[in-house]
Amino acid sequence: TKHLLGIKGLTEQDIQLIFETADNFKEVINRPIKKVPSLRDITIANIFFENSTRTRLSFELAEKRLSADVINFSSSNSSVKKGETLVDTVNNILSMKVDMVVMRHSSPGAPNFLAKNINANIVNAGDGTHEHPTQALLDAFSIREKLGDVAGKKVAIIGDILHSRVALSNIFCLQKLGAEVMVCGPATLLPKYISSLGVKVEYDVKKALQWCDVANVLRIQLERQQIKYFPSLREYSLYYGVDKKLLDQLDKEIVIMHPGPINRGVELNSDVADSEHSIILNQVENGVAVRMAVLYLLAAVK
Ligand code: CP
Repeated sequence: TKHLLGIKGLTEQDIQLIFETADNFKEVINRPIKKVPSLRDITIANIFFENSTRTRLSFELAEKRLSADVINFSSSNSSVKKGETLVDTVNNILSMKVDMVVMRHSSPGAPNFLAKNINANIVNAGDGTHEHPTQALLDAFSIREKLGDVAGKKVAIIGDILHSRVALSNIFCLQKLGAEVMVCGPATLLPKYISSLGVKVEYDVKKALQWCDVANVLRIQLERQQIKYFPSLREYSLYYGVDKKLLDQLDKEIVIMHPGPINRGVELNSDVADSEHSIILNQVENGVAVRMAVLYLLAAVK
């Protein structure tokens, strides 16, 4: 395939190839000279219709480390504000001889729609509540790095599953790699279809933490909550917040992950986020190598 629209469409072999390629690029970007000429003469547009810190900068760095030419577009200061459509916007960008598009959009399926209407490789950098494939890849890559393998590991995804593209992509990715997956949160923040995905469902955060090898703690996404959800942030942190006191009650050590940005003191306390249990900044570091691998592999497919 010439696009990366979601994890759902990948095989285990595709994911392993991305990881093996990312292993090589991780070694490259830790050298004094971090750049390779792999994507010289390729032009990539990072098109962001929604806010981002990690994903946008990580893609831009990945592209620059591969020697691609890079242009960045944010809808907030563009002619989208004057009413230009998505397809018109992207086709105008492509007419400047752009080869690949990395896109974030608030509408689920926007990259799939674009893939049918434009002629370029498309990488989904997060589409609404649907998928965030490179996040799931860097998350699984980080588990593999920390624990040696993903197969057979127990991963609990804790928090606002209902509004989370990270949760859905992680579920697909971890299951394809042979991990056991649990989701945990208040019933109001779990989608009704969740058990049909073959995951365990747990409402008690302490039981989820006791069960898992890895806890991937997700942000409460207030910006996607159209109505006022139960619980409030204060109630959420009281019943579901992960802190050191809770981890100290377990009879084992677990790995803590978070895709960022963290609501400190809500879903995750600083005494855990900044502790030796946390691999949060390793996830961010690995994001560059994983995105280099994705771009490198897709660029070979026209
Ligand atoms: N994890 C993640 O997608 O972060 P950003 O929204 O800052 O890109």
